[in-house]
Amino acid sequence: ADHDSADGIGRAAGARWPRGPGTRAAAARARVGRRPGADPNRQRRRQRDHLLRMSTLAVYPGSFDPLTNGHVDIISRGARLFDRIIVAILVNAEKAPLFSMEERVEIARSVFADQPNVEVDTFKGLLVDYVERRRAQVIVRGLRALSDFEFEFQMALMNQRLKPKIETIFMMPAEQYTYISSRLIKEVFALGGRVHGLVPDMVETRLRDKLAAQPAGQAAP
Ligand code: PNS
Repeated sequence: ADHDSADGIGRAAGARWPRGPGTRAAAARARVGRRPGADPNRQRRRQRDHLLRMSTLAVYPGSFDPLTNGHVDIISRGARLFDRIIVAILVNAEKAPLFSMEERVEIARSVFADQPNVEVDTFKGLLVDYVERRRAQVIVRGLRALSDFEFEFQMALMNQRLKPKIETIFMMPAEQYTYISSRLIKEVFALGGRVHGLVPDMVETRLRDKLAAQPAGQAAP
């Protein structure tokens, strides 16, 4: 009854295996790794819990002011590579962001609404402390050009020194996004340039609303 099994792991429902070593049944028990009579649902639950503990959780940190299609590309790639990815938006009291924290969270949640393994969260303080608190194993950063490398390298090594078990993984965005940055998007848009296709539609709309709300002559980001 090893084929056509009812419980999905090689045994027909209700079938009893004869006891004793050397029997075909003993070999079958060893293959599926459980005692006869054990609750198959419990076994499956334990396997699922084990897999969940083994799953890789990545954190993609940043300011996301605003989210660009370059970020979206990296997050989508990360969501394919890791079991789960958290877009972690830094609460940074020093900077004067164009988009409020609430707006940035809302935009990212809306863009990834259909992707259940992408979570959007905020964090304060040291990134590695947040990563540890969330029991994540990996920090994801995008590398667009050589110019990004030095700062990213320093940050990765500092984070490694602080928490050696957390790995930083660098990912390249698709070619067409290699020159996009949140800073350039804000500048180009404020000076009347087109950013269509470089940011999610929701960001473009919000940028337009912000520009319209500004008093004339105050267009600079
Ligand atoms: O989008 P950004 O501005 O390039 O993101 C930078 C970020 C948020 C990843 C970095 O500033 C950061 O991790 N800040 C949290 C504070 C921290 O841990 N600093 C030490 C980094 S070595």
